[in-house]
Amino acid sequence: MCLSIAEEQLIELAKRFGTPLYVYDEKRIRENFGEFRAAFPGAKICYAYKANTSLAICSILRQEGAAADVVSQGELRMALKVGVKPEDIIFTNNAKTKEELEFAIDSGVIIDVDSLDELNSISEIGKPAKISFRVNPAVDPKTHPKIATGMKDSKFGLHLENDIALEAYKKAKELGIEIAGVQMHIGSQITDMTAFEDATKKLMDFVLQLKESGITLKFIDIGGGLGISYEGEDTPKPKDLAAKVLPIIKEYYTKIGYESELWLEPGRYLVANAGVLLCQVQSVKKTPYKNFVNVDCGFNTLARPVLYDSFHRIKVLGKKGSEETYDIAGNICESGDILGKDRELPAVEKGDVLAVLDAGAYGFSMASQYNCRPRPAEILVRENSVEVIRERETWDDLWRGETVPDDLNK
Ligand SMILES: Cc1ncc(COP(=O)(O)O)c(C=O)c1O
Repeated sequence: MCLSIAEEQLIELAKRFGTPLYVYDEKRIRENFGEFRAAFPGAKICYAYKANTSLAICSILRQEGAAADVVSQGELRMALKVGVKPEDIIFTNNAKTKEELEFAIDSGVIIDVDSLDELNSISEIGKPAKISFRVNPAVDPKTHPKIATGMKDSKFGLHLENDIALEAYKKAKELGIEIAGVQMHIGSQITDMTAFEDATKKLMDFVLQLKESGITLKFIDIGGGLGISYEGEDTPKPKDLAAKVLPIIKEYYTKIGYESELWLEPGRYLVANAGVLLCQVQSVKKTPYKNFVNVDCGFNTLARPVLYDSFHRIKVLGKKGSEETYDIAGNICESGDILGKDRELPAVEKGDVLAVLDAGAYGFSMASQYNCRPRPAEILVRENSVEVIRERETWDDLWRGETVPDDLNK
């Protein structure tokens, strides 16, 4: 098992708390953060909240010293709620509303500006704001197209070419807005380090250009995106990323003539392999063409396989071997709801508990109530205890906040 939680304990948790169930390993989260801290000494590691916004998880990372990368007012409020200091929060998004901008300014966080219109909105609010700009380095991170975010045709950031980003910085200076840094984020689940190297060079070239225009920065944020091993293959670790990008940054510091703080925004790497989704087999159906294992969760619970064709290893807890080939079918009424295709597993039977591995990132945070299925509970396995960190939703949660006009009740 690649979790430090034993299979027997997972089976016991499924019995005790029911399925579907997200289970997280606190120790693994702390270890993952420790890898980043060790690889990037002195850097500010902003946990990307979108990966998993459960308050207990965010609190563990805050305790470890994580700052926060947030993408909505909701995530910003979560970061403040768990006690992250405003100056340790960077708010990135391509379409912030005026209300979000005002809240961010009033909270004193860094606003990572994505467009000139956004810069003007900040100026119109007329209160002192601290900003960085998100720049688009136009690199191909060789990941799934839906999670590549710094390609030349991506919706995010200001392009470096044609001095677009440079002009934005000059404009901010003219407007008297406090410029704190520069940010990029080129994508997610990146395992080829070349794109990080290329993008970092482009970013540092830009920092040099800014210096030549009289603009210096407090921080340089190279974003998140380091991938994890979903199939058990060898993938680069934070130290491998550091070995590629730190020498580039260092070399540029000499040319630039000053050193900025380095910020990073890992999400997936910190929490993905610390989480597992447990589900129970409701039936095994053998058709003339395929064998289906029908489970009690679906893409409402874990969207990644359907959204990004992502691969998650799936284990039959308490059983070994690979005797038959199955598709693991979710319970959502759509044919596309398959959690795993053509998996060789031990003979699966009704009642077996399956563990979908590496489900700690972009799992619960993307879960919905589609098909009117309450969202699952979340459990944290600690050194000496097991805690329910989120209760399973109830039927009432399905219609909370809804109103049926009186005449429709007749
Ligand atoms: C702006 C930003 N920063 C950081 C991240 C975290 O990426 P990852 O979870 O791949 O580390 C994301 C997610 O795509 C993001 O959009």
